[in-house]
Amino acid sequence: MQYNNSASYGHFDDETREYVITRPDTPYPWINYLGCEDFYGLFSNTSGGYCFYRDARMLRLTRYRYNNVPADAGGRYFYLRDHAEDEISGYARQDVWSPSWMPIKSKLDRYECRHGLGYSCISSARNGLAFSQLSFVPLKDNCEIHKITLTNETKVEKNIDIFSFVEFCLWNANDDMTNFQRNYSIGEVEVEGSAIYHKTEYRERRNHYAVWSVNVPISGFDTDRETFLGLYNGFDHPQTVFAGAANNFIASGWAPIGSHHIEVPLKPGESKTFVFVLGYCENSEDQKWESLHVINKAPAKALLEKYNSAEAVDTALAELKEYWDKLLSRFSMQTDDKTLVRMVNVWNQYQCMVTFNMSRSASYFESGIGRGMGFRDSNQDLLGFVHLVPERARMRILDIAATQMSDGSAYHQYQPLTKRGNNDIGSGFNDDPLWLICGVAAYIKETGDYSILDEQVPFDNDQALSDSLFVHLKRSFDYTLNNLGPHGLPLIGRADWNDCLNLNCFSKTPGESFQTTANYESGIAESVLIAGIFAFTGPDYAEICRRTSRKEEAERAEKAIAAMIETINTHGWDGNWFLRAYDAMGKKIGSHECEDGQIFIESNGFAVMADIGINDGRAIRALDSVKEKLETAYGIVLQQPAYKEYHLELGEISSYPPGYKENAGIFCHNNPWITIAETRVGRGERAFETYKRICPAYREDDSKLRRVEPYAYAQMVAGKDAPRFGEAKNSWLTGTAAWAFVSITQYILGIRPVFDGLLIDPCIPPGIKSFSITRYFRGAVYKITVDNTAGVEKGIASISMDGKVLDNKILPPMEEGSIHEVMVVMGSSKN
Ligand code: GLC
Ligand code: GLC
Repeated sequence: MQYNNSASYGHFDDETREYVITRPDTPYPWINYLGCEDFYGLFSNTSGGYCFYRDARMLRLTRYRYNNVPADAGGRYFYLRDHAEDEISGYARQDVWSPSWMPIKSKLDRYECRHGLGYSCISSARNGLAFSQLSFVPLKDNCEIHKITLTNETKVEKNIDIFSFVEFCLWNANDDMTNFQRNYSIGEVEVEGSAIYHKTEYRERRNHYAVWSVNVPISGFDTDRETFLGLYNGFDHPQTVFAGAANNFIASGWAPIGSHHIEVPLKPGESKTFVFVLGYCENSEDQKWESLHVINKAPAKALLEKYNSAEAVDTALAELKEYWDKLLSRFSMQTDDKTLVRMVNVWNQYQCMVTFNMSRSASYFESGIGRGMGFRDSNQDLLGFVHLVPERARMRILDIAATQMSDGSAYHQYQPLTKRGNNDIGSGFNDDPLWLICGVAAYIKETGDYSILDEQVPFDNDQALSDSLFVHLKRSFDYTLNNLGPHGLPLIGRADWNDCLNLNCFSKTPGESFQTTANYESGIAESVLIAGIFAFTGPDYAEICRRTSRKEEAERAEKAIAAMIETINTHGWDGNWFLRAYDAMGKKIGSHECEDGQIFIESNGFAVMADIGINDGRAIRALDSVKEKLETAYGIVLQQPAYKEYHLELGEISSYPPGYKENAGIFCHNNPWITIAETRVGRGERAFETYKRICPAYREDDSKLRRVEPYAYAQMVAGKDAPRFGEAKNSWLTGTAAWAFVSITQYILGIRPVFDGLLIDPCIPPGIKSFSITRYFRGAVYKITVDNTAGVEKGIASISMDGKVLDNKILPPMEEGSIHEVMVVMGSSKN
């Protein structure tokens, strides 16, 4: 391995907002997401990955093999072949390589991959031939563009061949990987000019096809994988490329691919650019065919025409960059700490967009055929996204709410394409309904748009069962109250936020799903976490009622919340921290009385976020216990001690080896809950410390240990009980992105949307002496400067806006388009 000597894998380029990877053999593929709305590509630093239209399971354009050997094989590949006649012997000699390193892995004299916002650029060189590949999905079209440039950096003429390569997926990614008795006989393609059309199943019920084309005439093509590679060859030894000529073979069944052969003579110093487009096209039923068995190519031709030159591609890239400039200008900060600035201004917001788009469907750890959109996940993802594109958050809320049942419970997941709840997982996760309140409240606080509450939304996807979104919120609130257990705490159902605390499951059957099995409807197992979420998000519901003239309902809600807090104090406190749950026998979980699992992060985070125990010292005690018992150098583990054995009465949590996942892994998603809780008790130094521990950019130097991208949060880092302590897994699609953004921007930096405007309430380390933030909010722009010369952690001495002193800490909504200068001086507060 030629690259293993350097310790670093790359660095941030803050100017261009790119992460620059400087060697291809990263400790795990480091990926980027191309696409913003309908068409998406996952793109690794060696050009691996795949793309799909809207739904990674149902409409996948290219094939990808998860858990493959070697890792990350399959992508959009451009094989290069340099051939010449040996001057002395007269024999032909040739060199074949992959300019993105994978799959051939020949040595590259230079290599760099820049992952930017919605685009990536790989550049490399070998033996005097420079290569660059710019890849992105343009804003308004359903395609991936790959602009390839070859430059002859030598003093002699070169004869280069390019062989492009993509392998088509037969659309349904699940079927594609499993149903070979059918699949091997259905693949169909057409070729016209330089365009290769993948049209499997188009003859029957599909109205869409894929096109893979290049903007120059080609010397030949291939469409059949076996012909191109050779049956017993891997991607690293395509026989066609080594032979130097395409086969012009039309695939029939088996595995359809698309490969172009282009001959590129290059004079010394000469450069040539090629635009490859991989697109998705639809035709209406009556427009499907051009003639008998010949597909109507009009939409593809229009698409290819649009991107037929390097200039057109550059314009589209400029538009994409402008789109991101605009989005990110809605929240940006300045301070001395560069790492903080790059996370807040760029990478955390970027990941929030990705989690909003993908939920938990497609990453290098989520196969795109599994979970679809999650009810609780998508509601939480909104929290970090709503300030970017509020209109999309609004639509998402209405989609999610339509998968709620009329009793207030909810489908746990739904498919993005059909927007219908998944029957195989069903409902019964008793925290789900409350996240809808949380999501809607965040939307209203951001936008001031109460009209969303009047939208008519179906229950159970059934139009006949429609009611206003407000009624959905009421059912959510009441669902908790209608499902209380023996101590008056909420029943947990199949699981609460912690999918692996399955207290009614009692599974003895290998392979049985912990989440959908209920062998025991105890009516007893209760969750202190759900109680905490209720106490945290319930007041928003009450406030929404009050502000929409539902005074009685507001009072009823407030009473119920007060009663719940009382119950938490009576039955949810263990002496030094908050309990986690009661099991189906009424035994405590997360108590000092337990052998393992004595203290959990989740309930402690949420109880303090809800301000429980602030006045009587319990909050501080709980947070100190978390620090003492759960904190590690790489973040806070989920619970301690880890479960050593499988517990029938606890379910999946005890199925994981100690230190992984929910069994005492550092489950990053709920670390920000502790960060927020620390700001509630005014400990800015502590809050920032917990923030930094899991923040990828602050951990860049640990890349070798962590393995995943230093620019994206991971769901889990192995806990101290695991042999691989500190190793991260499951990067990108995690609720950590949204909660980390909320914790840093709203609670540490303290610029928090509330119903009346923007609340200013920073809680920072005394060492941060100043920072400034530009915040777009309800049409106006606030330029906020925070002065902490006083060196406090919390407290405001004065706030003024446009030179006038404000008498409270809330910046009121201002006129559309107006700009305001806000000066905040921290210090001991006057009142
Ligand atoms: C996964 C799930 C999320 C759940 C968490 C804890 O991240 O997507 O819904 O809350 O695990 O189990
Ligand atoms: C497993 C995982 C958990 C995830 C769940 C989703 O239980 O441990 O993190 O939320 O699967 O079904």
